Amino acid sequence: MAVLPILTYPDATLKQVSHEVEQIDDTVLSFITELEETMRNGPGGVGIAAPQVGHFERIVIVDVSSKPKIEQHGRLVLINPEISRWDGMKVGREGCMSVPDFTGNVIRAERIALSYLDEQGESQELEASGYEARAIQHELDHLDGLLFLDRLVSRRNDLFKRKTYK
Ligand code: NI
Repeated sequence: MAVLPILTYPDATLKQVSHEVEQIDDTVLSFITELEETMRNGPGGVGIAAPQVGHFERIVIVDVSSKPKIEQHGRLVLINPEISRWDGMKVGREGCMSVPDFTGNVIRAERIALSYLDEQGESQELEASGYEARAIQHELDHLDGLLFLDRLVSRRNDLFKRKTYK
């Protein structure tokens, strides 16, 4: 099993904008396997974006199936994802493997629609809501060099120190 090192804040490369995947070949697919192993090994483990391991291609993985009783799609590998619709707004608490010492309150859309390529290179569309929609929006931000820290409702009132990351 390959677990890749995670870049953590304030590493400046986390601000880099990732480029689109042009061809889904064996190199990309084996990277996705390593990225997923890294996500599943980490605390939290509901999502990861390629730039968090210093790989600046537009690839994220989200899997919120460990959370009981929520609407979700299970394991999602999203290549070149693009959100096409945002509905509603809600404040919620977020954490990130790249910001291990803090959590924070962030406003996200409650429901989103997005398009992306799957691992076979097929175009797909998806609607997500609630916690899963939040996780997808969080991971997509990484592709544009944004962390939840950049979206805190209030820097003074909405950033919380963690004791341990579980
Ligand atoms: Ni994150």
